[in-house]
Amino acid sequence: MHTQKFPEPRTGETETAGPLSSAEVLKRLGRRSIVLVGMPGAGKSSVGRRLAKRLGLTFVDADEEIERAACMSIPEIFARHGEAEFREGEKRVVARLLQSGPCVLATGGGAFMNAETRAAVARHGVSVWLRADLNTLLRRVKKRTDRPLLAQGDPAQKLAALHAQRADTYALADVTVDSRDVVHELVVEEVIGAVHAHLLARLVAHPEGIAMAPLSSATAISAEAESLPLGEITRSTVRVDVAGKPYDIYIGPGLLAEAGTHVTALRKGARVAIVTDENVVAAGHLATVAASLDAAGIAHTAIVVPPGEKTKGWPGLEQVVEGLIAARIERRDLVLALGGGVVGDLAGFAASVLRRGVDVVQAPTTLLSQVDSSVGGKTGINSPQGKNLIGAFHQPVLVLADTAALNTLPVREVKAGYAEVVKYGLLGDRDLFDTLERDWPGVIGGGPERITAVAASCMAKAAIVARDEKETGDRALLNLGHTFGHALEAGAGYSQRLLHGEGVAIGMALAFAFSAKLGLCPGQDVTRVVRHLEAVGLPTKISDVPGELPDTDGLMDLIAQDKKVSRGALTFILVRGIGEAFIAKDVNPQEVRAFLAEMR
Ligand SMILES: NC(=O)c1ccc[n+]([C@@H]2O[C@H](COP(=O)([O-])OP(=O)(O)OC[C@H]3O[C@@H](n4cnc5c(N)ncnc54)[C@H](O)[C@@H]3O)[C@@H](O)[C@H]2O)c1
Repeated sequence: MHTQKFPEPRTGETETAGPLSSAEVLKRLGRRSIVLVGMPGAGKSSVGRRLAKRLGLTFVDADEEIERAACMSIPEIFARHGEAEFREGEKRVVARLLQSGPCVLATGGGAFMNAETRAAVARHGVSVWLRADLNTLLRRVKKRTDRPLLAQGDPAQKLAALHAQRADTYALADVTVDSRDVVHELVVEEVIGAVHAHLLARLVAHPEGIAMAPLSSATAISAEAESLPLGEITRSTVRVDVAGKPYDIYIGPGLLAEAGTHVTALRKGARVAIVTDENVVAAGHLATVAASLDAAGIAHTAIVVPPGEKTKGWPGLEQVVEGLIAARIERRDLVLALGGGVVGDLAGFAASVLRRGVDVVQAPTTLLSQVDSSVGGKTGINSPQGKNLIGAFHQPVLVLADTAALNTLPVREVKAGYAEVVKYGLLGDRDLFDTLERDWPGVIGGGPERITAVAASCMAKAAIVARDEKETGDRALLNLGHTFGHALEAGAGYSQRLLHGEGVAIGMALAFAFSAKLGLCPGQDVTRVVRHLEAVGLPTKISDVPGELPDTDGLMDLIAQDKKVSRGALTFILVRGIGEAFIAKDVNPQEVRAFLAEMR
């Protein structure tokens, strides 16, 4: 298991190494402040002070600033001027503090309720909701006497009412970290991990092009303090905010061994049908999940399919659906897809049609499926006519991305999945691409960079999916490299000659080169992309595909069969440079053909 140790607290010139060193976080933070929001008793001051020390930033407590400015205590301000006036003053003080550069800012419990304050925080900071349960909050605030809103009446009732009133607004914060009764340093590291992952994934795409902006999604990162030695942070949680059915992606090592706990928390009493493939069984992952379900007393069955893309077709679907019916899986039971993208797409689609829809838990075991296919709800199978032509949108109810499961994956498969990680950098986040150029050995090799990269990728995908679940708009950006890639995969017969991610790697190199040929993208960006993919050991040229491929017209036919063709006009994801993808709907097929002929 690869874990990330607590870095030493920053003292003097001492700096920590690794992706979550102070320097790394500060570089990404720039002029922005980390703004802690949450209920009284959430630990904003105690965590904030330690967080500031760890990062070498100034700590500012907004309430103390207000008291200083007013020359009286907060209870006195409330008593003399009332809450409305206090809130006005608070808004001005927070705005002033945010202007004065990067700091760690602890805000009063009500500050984030003000829309203007939230807008100022979004412009100048990264907001962190320190979330605590009611009992914890009550225990902590009982020790304090300076909370005017809790001073009258029953504090427990008051606190519960405030909590209910405010929780939805706190959830608008950029990231959420659970403030539990563990050592403060642990929470501090969780905050740093969450803020870092958020900054890595700050991607907002627009249909006509794409621009960088802070994410507004609620993203939580938590460390499992109970099950891990103190000082080791290995877990992330990314929330996918699809309308009506949001779900979490848990990321980190050891999650498969906890499947029983997570399934029980999700749906007590449900039976589980595990769909997996022979390689995943041979790697021992089915046994791990089965043991965990047994330990939790959950009835389960397994449907094992042959590995490989060919399984993702009508016969494979029939095997899985019939297997689920034979196992008497009902509407309230769960399908658990344990495997790569093939198993995830197949089992997800089978679940979507079984009894008009059974819920699916995705437990992706390849890098590609952890960063891409298990997230976002696209499920389906291939037709003899082309890839993924039959399918349905069927969002999972939970994703368990066990990063240690990748340790049994052949390195060629890890690299193929890495192509999809690079894709997120190339389509909308130049900073992510910069980081990957440096950190890729850790992502491939299983260092802590892997967890960060999976989390950053999931956050980028979650942000796009939340905006455009059914791909009526900018979700299509996720297809960068896929039009060429799918044609090559089909041309190679969906075989071991070319893995999906390898097809995407060649496709991205071609999309950059084609964009440069059209005068859209600087040639040096093409060179940089190709160099990086080659450094990792990924193919970048059509001639890198071993064996025979269809001729240029044959490839054009395959492109035309791809679902991204609309009435003869080709839709391509093109680029204006690294991190600047856009959707081009009117690409001339003749230009594509001429380009492909040149690239043979
Ligand atoms: N639904 C989506 O949004 C989406 C997105 C991208 C790709 N996809 C689909 O995903 C598929 C590709 O997924 P993939 O690359 O994960 O391929 P895959 O599922 O075929 O897995 C790759 C290989 O690794 C084996 N394997 C899986 N986990 C293992 C482990 N932990 N240890 C050892 N071996 C393991 C598998 O048996 C297989 O041989 C394609 O069909 C593609 O169309 C779907």
